[in-house]
Amino acid sequence: MCADDSPGGYPPAVLHDAEPTIQIELEPVDSVVVTTLMDNVTDIFMPDQGPARRAGPAGGSRLAAVMAGGQAPDALIAEHGFSVLVTVAKAGREHRFLFDAGTSPDGVVDNMRRLDIDPGSIEAIVCSHGHFDHTTGLDGLIRVLGRTSMPVLIHPHFWRRRRITLPGREPLEIPTTSRQALTGAGFDIIEEQQPSFLFERSVLVTGEVPRTTGYEPGFPPQQAWLGGSWQADPLVLDDQALIINVKGKGLVVITGCGHAGVVNIASYARRLTGSQPLYALLGGFHLNGPLFEPLIPRVLDDLAAMNPGVLVPAHCTGWRAQHAMSARFPAAYTPNTVGTSFHL
Ligand SMILES: [Fe+2]
Repeated sequence: MCADDSPGGYPPAVLHDAEPTIQIELEPVDSVVVTTLMDNVTDIFMPDQGPARRAGPAGGSRLAAVMAGGQAPDALIAEHGFSVLVTVAKAGREHRFLFDAGTSPDGVVDNMRRLDIDPGSIEAIVCSHGHFDHTTGLDGLIRVLGRTSMPVLIHPHFWRRRRITLPGREPLEIPTTSRQALTGAGFDIIEEQQPSFLFERSVLVTGEVPRTTGYEPGFPPQQAWLGGSWQADPLVLDDQALIINVKGKGLVVITGCGHAGVVNIASYARRLTGSQPLYALLGGFHLNGPLFEPLIPRVLDDLAAMNPGVLVPAHCTGWRAQHAMSARFPAAYTPNTVGTSFHL
């Protein structure tokens, strides 16, 4: 990567040598349903589209003294955060797990109640990375579940204390997820840097994603508290994604905040699985603001080469990238909303 490509004058991302295709025996599943429990957008009027089935207006009601009947709809809530519930079906059996948990302590569990989803049906949790907008909702989940030995899959850097340094502003420390809180709740914490499986090889958790494009910079403003001082930590190496191979269709790839770079992630998913076709790509792609918007044309070109059938940019993708993807991929592009279930 040429230094001139580095956005905002931050150090360039480390470019790993392209590695050969690795064949990991991910077993095809019969179907997968991805239900958005938390995202930045809610919209009760958005229609169904392709595999996306919308939740529609709230079924339940809540007390509201300002209303004539004392009741108002118990509406789904959106926030700057991300969480999806993933259900995979294979040979007549279903498994269900949570990927990320949103920003507010109770947002995800409250939306689960509104969607009539039983938190007790979750068998495992995968966290895309340690940032608070993907983990804080574990708080409400712990209160609803009580003590649990449920596995939580994370990368070892998940626990890093971090801050954001933007030019002309004071550094802003961001909340760190508490190891003590998660172990205290009883969770079986599984830290893994390498790819790992869930549910008899039905789901592949990428672990650390090699940064092969050279132009996706991670998150340049980030620093971590390491060895007693703040040090540059732009790569967010804890950023991991999910890969599921749907029989006869191809790969479903789900990103959290996409700090590893959405092209790096999608390319790695294909490389890990013997170059299966990219069927659906969903999640946060992190292409917002002046640091990342210049990357949009290259990202779109590289995604076009992978020809995704379903493209669902969510959360931190940013409005310019959303509009550009809608124009470039009119058939695949599907907007997300809280409560939407993608039947893939
Ligand atoms: Fe995020």
